[in-house]
Amino acid sequence: MTDWRNEAIREQGAVIFLFGATGDLASRKLYPAIYSLYREGKLSAKFSVIGLARRAKSREEFRQDLLHSIQTYCRYKVESDDRDWLDFAERFEYMSLDTNNVEGYRQLLKLAEDQEKKFEIAGNRLFYLALAPNLFGSVAHNLQKGGLLEGNGWRRLMIEKPFGFDLPSAEKLNEEICQVFREDQVYRIDHYLGKEMIQNINVIRFANGFFEPLWNNRYISNIQITASETVGVEDRGGYYDHSGALRDMGQNHMLQMVTMMAMETPSRLDPEDIRDEKVKVLRSLRVFNEGDDVRKNVVRGQYSTGIMNGVEKPAYRNEESVNPESSTETYFAAKLYVDNFRWSGVPFYVRTGKRLPTKTTEVVVEFKKIPDNVYLAKEHDLQPNLLVLRVSPLEGIYIKINAKRPGTDNGIVPVAMDFCQSCQIGINTPEAYERLIYDAARGDSTHFTRWDEVGLAWQFVDRIKSAWSENTEDLRFYPAGTWGPEEANKMLADDGFHWWPISGQDESDVIWISGRPE
Ligand code: BG6
Repeated sequence: MTDWRNEAIREQGAVIFLFGATGDLASRKLYPAIYSLYREGKLSAKFSVIGLARRAKSREEFRQDLLHSIQTYCRYKVESDDRDWLDFAERFEYMSLDTNNVEGYRQLLKLAEDQEKKFEIAGNRLFYLALAPNLFGSVAHNLQKGGLLEGNGWRRLMIEKPFGFDLPSAEKLNEEICQVFREDQVYRIDHYLGKEMIQNINVIRFANGFFEPLWNNRYISNIQITASETVGVEDRGGYYDHSGALRDMGQNHMLQMVTMMAMETPSRLDPEDIRDEKVKVLRSLRVFNEGDDVRKNVVRGQYSTGIMNGVEKPAYRNEESVNPESSTETYFAAKLYVDNFRWSGVPFYVRTGKRLPTKTTEVVVEFKKIPDNVYLAKEHDLQPNLLVLRVSPLEGIYIKINAKRPGTDNGIVPVAMDFCQSCQIGINTPEAYERLIYDAARGDSTHFTRWDEVGLAWQFVDRIKSAWSENTEDLRFYPAGTWGPEEANKMLADDGFHWWPISGQDESDVIWISGRPE
């Protein structure tokens, strides 16, 4: 079957306007992603990229930076005299732009038209704003004033997070953008939605007869979502100290993972139908009303000094650009309930933090124990079945079941049936940004957040933040290199559960089965 979206981008091409072209994101993620798409033939021969930033830079300098970024961060190797590289680099132009100066946008229009002529591009324009969010609104307006939104072809706006700081600021931002762009032209990025295994959640759930019937409160006891990071705040202290883990990771990535796990089957695999289902989940999240509710269901922590891999790491409060008395959380764990028919009574435990022992994102679905199990009498520590989705760094899924220990006794051992996607030779998973740029260029908004999702997520997070702002007594400190405050363990223990170890850790008793027999 022809995918009309692929065909459209191949035939008509587009100009990509990259605002923030000299920034870290562009260099680490965006250029390597565009180059990978090019190498895989996913971009039309008719494309051009215009890099925009305030700094003055010649085209040659820009192309040198581009080469450096691709050589450093891209999974494809390139040499400066490769034919492919020369053809690719030829499509990149740079323009120094003061984003407040409308005249600059008129010059940009001229440059864009030249590129469109040179590469026979039918007028499509993708504006990628890798900028500070306070600039989104004015850039959108200036694009209009500069005439860049007129003419043939489509216009799409890709925006990085954070989309606002709280609900009122997000509403204001959205209003400014929507005076210029329609909702269906706006592609709000949550890069977790570009990750292979996050996109795989729907397939695993809806394409497998042995998961879908069990995907409810009759068979699942709880779901655990962990996104742990080993890094501290690095050079982002200024931003992070005003944001904290809940805004930085909770409002977006963590809640998005919850919605993907909890949503109902969409009636069609259409972006709007899928996002409608996600919105219903956000609407069903149990609201934390007051301080007490928040204290019971959300644990917040901040890293103090600690040793990681033999090296002493500074406390968060001693990081650059961080207030030495800061009460910003670098960790949170929360117990969420999706109050609908399917999930009534099933806790969704989520946790994320900086300076934790490993860099991992993982989702664990814990199934209920079967009642009246005849083996229980013999084996008291019979473990529940688990389905584990490994999002990163390893990608794949495994199921943990109970099986008879080989030999004569009737002992039972946990066995993990493992599908490690990223271990398979020949599977080269595209990076999240690769998918997202590709999807936006072909007009597929499934893996971007719609305004109502963003608004509801802020509403949820704002309530917690507001309870936290009333007192900071429940902020707990955890040494760098540990799994966060003890209270997060207690939260599960009180419900009769515990955090499952991240795969690969403390699992010496598990027998792993993977691959085919020789
Ligand atoms: C970003 C946050 O959205 O996600 C960062 O702003 C965080 O603080 C990052 O480090 C984590 O992304 P990933 O893909 O490395 O898990």
